[in-house]
Amino acid sequence: MSKPKSNNAKTISVALTLCLVCSVLVSAVAVGLKPSQIENARLDRNKNILVAAGMYDAESDTASDVAERFKDFEVKIIDLNNGNYLDDDALKAAGIPDRNAYDASQATKNQALSEDLGDNDPAGIGRKPKYAKVYVKSDDAGQPEMVVLPIQGYGLWGTIYGFLTLESDLNTIKGISFYEHKETPGLGARIEEPEWRAQWSGIESYDENGNVATGVTKAGTPKENWVDGISGATLTSRGVSNMVQFWLGEQGYKPYLDTLREQSGQPVEGADTQAHQTKPAAQSNTELAALPPVANGKEA
Ligand SMILES: Cc1cc2nc3c(=O)[nH]c(=O)nc-3n(C[C@H](O)[C@H](O)[C@H](O)COP(=O)(O)O)c2cc1C
Repeated sequence: MSKPKSNNAKTISVALTLCLVCSVLVSAVAVGLKPSQIENARLDRNKNILVAAGMYDAESDTASDVAERFKDFEVKIIDLNNGNYLDDDALKAAGIPDRNAYDASQATKNQALSEDLGDNDPAGIGRKPKYAKVYVKSDDAGQPEMVVLPIQGYGLWGTIYGFLTLESDLNTIKGISFYEHKETPGLGARIEEPEWRAQWSGIESYDENGNVATGVTKAGTPKENWVDGISGATLTSRGVSNMVQFWLGEQGYKPYLDTLREQSGQPVEGADTQAHQTKPAAQSNTELAALPPVANGKEA
């Protein structure tokens, strides 16, 4: 015997009410937590800037230490094509109302704020932002003591985001950090390990002609000024190699670093030679960047 219609209607209306109440609750919690999620992401990013700058002690530093130490840095926006800083008027004209809120990786989704790299995309990022955020720590004389440069590029499973710090000579690498990636724990994710990252410290980025002269080698094939790749994670290692070379190169921060060098009276190597190019210096078959870039986890 079938149940009376009124019971069915009651059941449906109770279920619908429950669904509605639950979805309102879930939405309210999501909206309520959004500001603290954004704040935590900002804190984590700032912590990783300090990690790349060698100014973070994982054992003892608290969130307030991070906030305090981060004040040593000036946040600047640069035009990646000419290497110049954007002042407030230029920022407004470029459609960037707030320099602190500017997110270069978000900008790659905006046609007006980015350019398609086409085939010239060794880091596998698709589009390059026109403007980038850099973090500058200056000495008492107002000269750059170090610059922290955001870097990103495709690993094996997705885009890897990080920071690379150069010392005052704008050549020696002070440190590197990675704060977001999809690489496998125990394999590609080992790029985060302090022991692996430590290899980058003290490496010279450019040769005497101003060409990028560093990257990651195949695991177990050490080479001066190059970092030993991670065994069992060649594809992630290659992704890191490509991204470091891309961002140090002419399409990345080189115009900016040359501008800073000129301003501080340092020689701009290779400024008037054919060698002043994006391409890394001559490679051997142990250098992972000599191999094609990785796209979507497959050999390109
Ligand atoms: C489940 C799984 C996860 C993997 N994750 C990574 C990774 O995160 N990064 C990476 O380079 N290789 C990873 N690999 C290995 C690659 O497929 C490839 O074999 C490796 O990069 C080659 O490195 P090797 O030449 O040092 O052995 C993974 C393999 C499997 C089966």
